[in-house]
Amino acid sequence: MKLGKTLISEHEIQHRTSQLAHQIVNDFKDKEILIVGVLKGAFMFTADLVRRISKLDAKIEIDFIRARSYGSGKESSGNVKIDLDVSADLKNTCVLLVDDIVDSGNTLKQVCEYLHGKGAANVSTCVLLDKPSRRTTDFVPDYIGFEIPDYFVVGYGLDHNERGRCLPFITHIVD
Ligand code: IMP
Ligand code: MG
Repeated sequence: MKLGKTLISEHEIQHRTSQLAHQIVNDFKDKEILIVGVLKGAFMFTADLVRRISKLDAKIEIDFIRARSYGSGKESSGNVKIDLDVSADLKNTCVLLVDDIVDSGNTLKQVCEYLHGKGAANVSTCVLLDKPSRRTTDFVPDYIGFEIPDYFVVGYGLDHNERGRCLPFITHIVD
């Protein structure tokens, strides 16, 4: 696999994640937060974010949901399928949904509606990356790590056909 230049370094990701954790803890005050990571893409970002939030003594629980909108290509199918559900009871919970990237906005818009349908009192969203130029929905994340141009990126949880997912930084694949 040939990688392009690093777009966002490991250090930049860690620094920004720490800033986001402070902002989140400040906004949620003393409320208990149920953090729901969207698999697989958000596994690394979620792990780093919850560690930072925990260090700030916030009350959090962690859960995961798996949603797919992409087949094996680079375009969202627009039709989001949940193939692993959260295990927590969401009734009256404050959910912070964490994902790797928002592109069309289909995935997070539909997962938010789904979690509201399961009784969550409110659902906020945090994404590491945002590609605003690709949006086809009215979805707006509450917390954004970095805005990026319309590149298809890999690393730090993001993949292309499972390639690049475990890199500690964000880059793109040069074939
Ligand atoms: P959306 O539903 O179009 O907003 O797409 C969101 C999902 O598509 C993300 O959770 C990612 O899994 C995937 N995705 C979107 N853009 C990229 C990218 O540049 N690299 C890797 N995965 C991406
Ligand atoms: Mg994803």
